[in-house]
Amino acid sequence: QLPAEGLRLLPVAELHLHIEGTLEPELIFELAERNGLVLPYSGLEELRGLYEFSDLQSFLDLYYANMAVLRTEQDFADMTRAYLARASAAGVRHAEIMMDPQAHLSRGVSLETCVNGVASGLATSVEEFGISTLLIAAFLRDLSEKSALEVLDGLLAMNAPIAAIGLDSAEVGNPPAKFERLFTRAREAGLRLTAHAGEEGPASYIIEALEILGVERIDHGIRCMEDPDLVERLVEDRIPLTVCPLSNVRLRAVDTLADHPLPAMLAAGLNVSVNSDDPAYFGGYVDDNFAQLDAAFEFSEFDRARLAANSIHSSFASEDRKAELL
Ligand code: HPA
Ligand code: ZN
Repeated sequence: QLPAEGLRLLPVAELHLHIEGTLEPELIFELAERNGLVLPYSGLEELRGLYEFSDLQSFLDLYYANMAVLRTEQDFADMTRAYLARASAAGVRHAEIMMDPQAHLSRGVSLETCVNGVASGLATSVEEFGISTLLIAAFLRDLSEKSALEVLDGLLAMNAPIAAIGLDSAEVGNPPAKFERLFTRAREAGLRLTAHAGEEGPASYIIEALEILGVERIDHGIRCMEDPDLVERLVEDRIPLTVCPLSNVRLRAVDTLADHPLPAMLAAGLNVSVNSDDPAYFGGYVDDNFAQLDAAFEFSEFDRARLAANSIHSSFASEDRKAELL
């Protein structure tokens, strides 16, 4: 048996991470002060007291509200560098980082400010933190397809340094099919494709994301376990599922970590990885996810190594970079 320390420091790729979800309470207050904004919380304790969620939407409300402190490129860069420093300590060696441009545009922050800010935070990630990175523009599925198409066009027009697009925000009632044209356009532009599906939404959303959007990867995907035929297909096609255990507990998709389907997913032969999603909100980074999983399930050395290898194989990194990481 590897000690827990050994497990935590296995090199992994983090494939499911929202950069806005890495905004820690301390940094929220620091950026508010720097930007002359008054927060609706008396202090850190009051803010921290709000991190109890009943479902995805209750989290999203706080997540979008807290983003108000991000005003300048420097703010986005500082947030990004804070994540890289923490992820490096967690054993992350490659990170595919989602950002939500529409959540900033709607507050009057330009595409240039948010994209260039995050990109400048990533610029020295290999030298400074030992982490290779790529950027994923995620689209808010509770907004219109028209809005998403306009923003994708803006990203392409500015030659934004994005490798992929994703689909996030409120899932139920916003099925993947709503964004068929967005994903077609992104594919034609040479971008890789991923989408959240089967987090709160049904297994049928996973099928739609694969068949209608043509995604290569599914973010979350835990509800595939309700459909044995789908599980068989996901295993057969080696479709990566970027699972986020602590997120699922905090958003009440599962009751407790002990009830999480990850061990059953591994046993079924699914291509699962462990990711932190919104670590500032859900109780921890990738190392915390692994440590709590280990406490709940006592994974074998084999399972731990498989989770780490899956994360690297499932990344959008070059084959050369994958070979370095394995
Ligand atoms: N699910 C959906 N949308 C999100 C999430 C999530 O876990 N985090 C940030 N946006
Ligand atoms: Zn997510």
